[in-house]
Parts: sequence; C-alpha cells; structure tokens
Amino acid sequence: MHKVVDGLSLDIPSDVYDPAEDSFLLAENVHDLTNEKVLEVGSGSGYVSLYLAKKFPRADFFCVEINHIAANATKKNAKQNSINLEVICSDLFNSFLAKENNMQFFDIVLFNSPYLPVKDFGLLEQAWAGGIDGLDVVIPFLKALPFFLKNNGCCYLVVSSKTNLALLESMIEYQGFNCLIKDKVVEGKESILLYYLKKNNTE
Ligand SMILES: C[S@@+](CC[C@H](N)C(=O)[O-])C[C@H]1O[C@@H](n2cnc3c(N)ncnc32)[C@H](O)[C@@H]1O
Repeated sequence: MHKVVDGLSLDIPSDVYDPAEDSFLLAENVHDLTNEKVLEVGSGSGYVSLYLAKKFPRADFFCVEINHIAANATKKNAKQNSINLEVICSDLFNSFLAKENNMQFFDIVLFNSPYLPVKDFGLLEQAWAGGIDGLDVVIPFLKALPFFLKNNGCCYLVVSSKTNLALLESMIEYQGFNCLIKDKVVEGKESILLYYLKKNNTE
C-alpha cells in the first residue's frame, strides 16, 4: 500500500504496521529536538522517525526493527523522502551489544511497543502482540534500556490500558526510572498511553 501521511510518502507492505493513533501519539509528543541521538525501537514503516527527522533535521536518528520487511520499508521510505537515518534489523538492542561505544549512547529512545495482551502468530502480529500481560517485549526492553540510554536521557513508551500497567510500572521503577503518563488517546473502551521515563538518578 502507498500513502502520504503528514507529507511523507510511505510504502507500507502488507506485513508491516500501518501507522495508526499510537504512532501519531508518539510522533506528536516529542518536542524541541536539537542535536540529540534518537533511537526508535520497532520502526515499522518508519513513519515516527521520518516525521521527527523531517521536523528536527539536526537530530541523528537510528532505528532497530525485528521484522526484516519492516526494516527494509523504513530504509526505502527514508530514501524516497530524502531523509537520512540508520536502520538495523535487530531484536531490540541486540545488534548494539558487541559495540562498546554504543553503551549509553542515546539521548532519547522511542518505542511504540507490541502492547496488547494477545499471542503472536506471525510477522505482522509481532507489531501488537505482547503475550499474556502485553509485556513480553517491553520487559526485556526495560531491562536493556539503562545500558543504552545516557544518564540524563529519556524514553517515550507507548502501551495500552489493556497492558498489565501495574506490572509495567513496577518494572519501570525496578529498572531505575521515574515515569509519568504524558498523553493518551481514548479509543472506545481502550486508551493508548504514552509513558515518559527518566532515569531516577537525574531528577
Ligand atoms: C506497534 S508497531 C509500531 C511501528 C511504528 N513504530 C509505528 O509507530 O507506526 C511495533 C513494531 O515493533 C516491532 N517489534 C516487535 N518486537 C520487536 C523487537 N523485539 N525488536 C525490535 N522491533 C520489534 C514490530 O515488528 C513493529 O514494527
């Protein structure tokens, strides 16, 4: 499928997440970037990073994506919008593990996560299926995050009111972060929530 979203020309293959309310919630809540290093985990079509990279051209954008079709879509969409960003096909931060100079490298980490409490059956379902608590991917993400985020860095994490939020918030605290809900979108009985995390030694 081809579409134009916020002036971005996007090719979105059928196995890739089509930007939706959760993507827009994330993109619209990141403000005032200057020359930060930004990592988007799970870039999908690339919409969020491309929207922000276009708005804040001095920031450096990096994307990781587990779905190789989505990683290629992010690359292709960056190229066709003449936007520079680095895209790596990787399970969370794994591709950075061998590179010591990538430790605590990022100022900002973004993740519109697979947050729904359902099981994963295929490439596309990996975009939303987060297992029994909606946290199968978010918990390993939170465990690794302190190693890749600068001490004064922050993280924007999208989840849902259907996610196990009590478990999420206790994991966030256990990993050494303070958090607040920065914004939300209500969709019928579900709310999409944008959490803002900051290492608690810096507040
Ligand atoms: C809800 S979609 C968001 C896509 C895009 N960021 C957006 O907002 O439109 C979640 C994305 O995370 C990716 N993903 C799921 N598990 C992942 C993992 N372990 N490592 C990296 N990416 C992952 C999925 O393939 C999917 O593209």
